Amino acid sequence: MAVGVFDSGLGGLTVHQAIAARMPDLPLVYLGDNAHAPYGVRTADDIYDLTCRGVERLWAEGCDLVILACNTASAAALRRMQESWLPPGKRVLGVFVPLIESLTERHWGDNSPPREVEVKHVALFATPATVASRAFQRELAFRAIGVDVEAQPCGGVVDAIEDGDEMLAEALVRSHVEALKRRMPHPQAAILGCTHYPLMERTFQSALGDGVKVFSQADLVAESLADYLARRPGFRGKGTVSRYLTTGDPARVSTKATQFLRRQITFEPA
Ligand code: DGL
Repeated sequence: MAVGVFDSGLGGLTVHQAIAARMPDLPLVYLGDNAHAPYGVRTADDIYDLTCRGVERLWAEGCDLVILACNTASAAALRRMQESWLPPGKRVLGVFVPLIESLTERHWGDNSPPREVEVKHVALFATPATVASRAFQRELAFRAIGVDVEAQPCGGVVDAIEDGDEMLAEALVRSHVEALKRRMPHPQAAILGCTHYPLMERTFQSALGDGVKVFSQADLVAESLADYLARRPGFRGKGTVSRYLTTGDPARVSTKATQFLRRQITFEPA
């Protein structure tokens, strides 16, 4: 009974942590493709190939259900995987939809036509590949009308986090928030559309100011997964052991993960 959690690197740990808190008895196998991070500057084909490989590795761990705890993979690869690659009996879910449902005040399965929602001006912070895909705006348009989205591609932030350089990550976040505010001076809400960014949530919030509601995905995804598994218990899979796997150097990745999550995390080679 294990569920797989996949990311290009450390960011998906924010989602993993929320899922583990919400469902402490559920074994989770985490795979960080640190050897190939960041994904956010790669082509869609490249992201698709790497994501399929990562998901196959998690199937080998007995995870029939894999959460793409990565917006870049969810934006650039998920739809193609679901349409033409996934075999019967396997599921891959992304991190976008729970976030957009929350922003648009919807519950799962509410397929009613798009309608006006409270939030009108939204700042989206994401990787260059996620911003270029426009996947966020597409999912939003299915559910809401009249929402103005200003997207900021946050080059460099994921690299700084993967390198464990918190000072650089902080400086980059501040400069990306400034750049966005020049185009949208008063966002009502901000979306942290990359699972690495909650590791810098305090910096985002302080640069944006207290009046801006910051939406981050981890808890929303955990809640939506709990709901999904209650409806489809078969997708808990056959695995029974929780593990952290990486395609990178396990010692190095363990150190960075421990630094950012502020608790001991030990990775094994994938
Ligand atoms: N954490 C990922 C995301 O949510 C990937 C970032 C990257 O590898 O560029 O987009």
